[in-house]
Amino acid sequence: MRPTRDQAWQTLTRYTKSQSLLRHALAVEASVRDYARAYGEDEEFWGCAALLHDFDYEIHPTLDRHPQDGAAILREEGYPEELIGTVLSHAEHLEMPRDTRLKKVLFACDELSGFVHACGLVRPSGLDGLEPRSVKKKLKQPSFAAGVHRDEVYAGAELLGIELDEHIANVIAALQPIAGELGLRTAADPATA
Ligand SMILES: [Fe+2]
Ligand SMILES: [Fe+2]
Repeated sequence: MRPTRDQAWQTLTRYTKSQSLLRHALAVEASVRDYARAYGEDEEFWGCAALLHDFDYEIHPTLDRHPQDGAAILREEGYPEELIGTVLSHAEHLEMPRDTRLKKVLFACDELSGFVHACGLVRPSGLDGLEPRSVKKKLKQPSFAAGVHRDEVYAGAELLGIELDEHIANVIAALQPIAGELGLRTAADPATA
C-alpha cells in the first residue's frame, strides 16, 4: 500500500492527542517535505514518514518502547516496510544505519525543527526575521529548549553534508508557511497566537 497524507494524519491523531506533539509532527513534516521538494524526491511519502515518526510517543513515552513498539502498529495498519524502517531509524538508541536520503533528512530535521519552533515561540514576530546566527547562539545556551539534543542537531547537518547555517535557514523557511498551525505569531499579526 502507498500511504497518503490523510491516512498518516488519521493514524497520527488516533494515537496522539497532545497539541505539542502534533505540532512537532507538523513541523518535522514541513521541513522534510521541503527537502523532498528540493531533492526532487517523493514529497508525499517523505511527508508521511515524518508525520508518523513519533506517532506512538504518547502511548510509548519511554525508549524501551518508542519507536519500536510503534512499528508493530504501523505494520498492522499496512504501512510499507520502507516507511517503518525510516521511522525506526530516527531513534539514536536503536543505532540503525541511516542509509537512505530520507532517513538522513528525517534525522536532521527532527531535533532542529523543534529547536527552531522553540526560538519562534519566544519572539514577538515568531519566525519572521529569525536569522540562523541567532539560532546558533541559542544552541549554545544549554538552558534554552533544554530537551533538544544539540549533538543531534550538529550531527544532522553533517549527515546532510550542508553547513549548519544553510540547514537552519531551510528549516526556518519550511516552518514559516505553517506558523499559525504551530502557534507562532507573525510580524504581520503580532497580537494573535
Ligand atoms: Fe522519537
Ligand atoms: Fe521527533
